[in-house]
Amino acid sequence: MTSLDIRPAVHAPSAPDAEWWRHAVIYQVYPRSFADASGDGIGDLAGITARLPHLVELGVDAVWLSPFYLSPQADAGYDVADYRQVDPLFGTLDDFDAMLTRAHDLGLRVIVDLVPNHTSDEHVWFQAALEAGIGSAERDRYLFREGRGESGELPPNNWESIFGGPAWTRLADGQWYLHLFDSRQPDLNWEHPEVRAEFEDVLRFWLDRGVDGFRVDVAHGMVKEPGLPDWDGHVSMIEGTDDEDVANGSGNHGPMFDQDGVHEIYRAWHRVLADYAGDRALVAEAWVEPLSRLARYVRPDEMQQAFNFAFLATRWDAPALRSVIEASYATADSVGAPTTWVLSNHDVVRHASRLGLADAGSRPNGIGVGDEQPDEALGLRRARGATLLMLGLPGSAYLYQGEELGLPDHTALPDELRQDPAFFRTGGVERGRDGCRVPLPWSSDEPGLGFSPTGLTWLPQPSSWAAYALDAQRGVAGSTYEIYRSTLGLRRSHELGTGGLEWADGYGDDVIAFTNRDVLVVANLGATPVPLPVGATVLASSVEVTGHEVPGDATVWLQVQTA
Ligand code: NOJ
Repeated sequence: MTSLDIRPAVHAPSAPDAEWWRHAVIYQVYPRSFADASGDGIGDLAGITARLPHLVELGVDAVWLSPFYLSPQADAGYDVADYRQVDPLFGTLDDFDAMLTRAHDLGLRVIVDLVPNHTSDEHVWFQAALEAGIGSAERDRYLFREGRGESGELPPNNWESIFGGPAWTRLADGQWYLHLFDSRQPDLNWEHPEVRAEFEDVLRFWLDRGVDGFRVDVAHGMVKEPGLPDWDGHVSMIEGTDDEDVANGSGNHGPMFDQDGVHEIYRAWHRVLADYAGDRALVAEAWVEPLSRLARYVRPDEMQQAFNFAFLATRWDAPALRSVIEASYATADSVGAPTTWVLSNHDVVRHASRLGLADAGSRPNGIGVGDEQPDEALGLRRARGATLLMLGLPGSAYLYQGEELGLPDHTALPDELRQDPAFFRTGGVERGRDGCRVPLPWSSDEPGLGFSPTGLTWLPQPSSWAAYALDAQRGVAGSTYEIYRSTLGLRRSHELGTGGLEWADGYGDDVIAFTNRDVLVVANLGATPVPLPVGATVLASSVEVTGHEVPGDATVWLQVQTA
């Protein structure tokens, strides 16, 4: 036991009976890469159902599923052709219901993805718009415009697609349509009452089936500035929220992002969810900054949570992380919302690889052959340290499938196997996101590492992954999996999710040290070991702690005496 000098609280504890989404650990399942029951090499809903006990054993509270809806898969399902159908790749609506029932029986909540900024080009509305022609009511549900130039040969404005190239595509009849992402993802016109009504109905469709909430894709992009004015900035999902941007307030501020009008949509959706029992939740995928702008999405009558990409985007740098943590609490607390924490997802290089780069924590848009290869051991060591830091913080935390195994990205995928539209639209300048989407390794000595009964995997797994398979780590003291599992158990038993945060004094610049309830978290981001307080009891550590010190690039949780 130890006691410490502490500074004033950065964040006060919340009520012990706070809603689940204020403190939940939410595990992201990327369905095509989680577990394949059918044997076609692509994960599916039946595969998820079969593996739900893994998530219970791991100790998470909820699951977020990336899209499994009917889709031509031009952007791995983020191009939805029918919001009320399951794509046959993933199964059927009955499979969905079975998965949801099983999850609820096991005590897991389930959040599904909602993609309202754009549809697939195969959605009936877009097909009708193509058919109906220029000036039709059908075209008014999307953002069709005449081009500029003498014969309309130039796009209506200079916006770029986030995946590269122009954000406009011209049809044979001469009109252009806007797509902030791929040309197969036309942007909807959110000024149109039918669009608003349709999505409220889609929400109800899934709420009626029993989902616990929605992760809202591109939540900052649905409303555009009237007139769609030119903008010389660079739109990006990945850039625009790194630590410098957070500090100087620049980034995704174009006329396609973070317009005041989006908030009315979320107020309406809040009311839809409030009609249902059971604390349903909306989480914003909104790459906006500074954090004070993000807080506007989680005002009391809007969404419940927003992803904290400022945290994900911060380098392996203690002062920078401390200031993001402080700003996160200050801004979320100002509107009574929980903070969220996230280090990896299906859009970014996994943190075990980012933290192994020379510029630790920087975020290339994918890593491939010929690019700087991360130091796998150092990246994993830091990733475990970063995770223990994150899980010690009060609020809600997101885990991305496979990070509990310490998986690195596939950083040497042959380019000819890539599928991410960002790779193709940038002519390969961006390697894209396939490297973080590789099918999970469950069993070290089965074909396809146990992902599928046939051994098929839609992307190849790196040769190093056998050692990361779940069965190689389960029950092995000190494995990444066992560290995640025991840390999640401690987070729950010490009620850290609803706890408070007070910085602990007396550590150097390279250290982030704080107390949350009766736990002292010491994250040493430097190379020099940091002495532990005398008599300290170690509860958890990201590496083996032998002496009385926290080694470099490691995090330790200690039992602290409470008054
Ligand atoms: C964000 C999603 O996370 C990403 O995977 C997708 O490509 C874009 N939105 C477009 O829907």
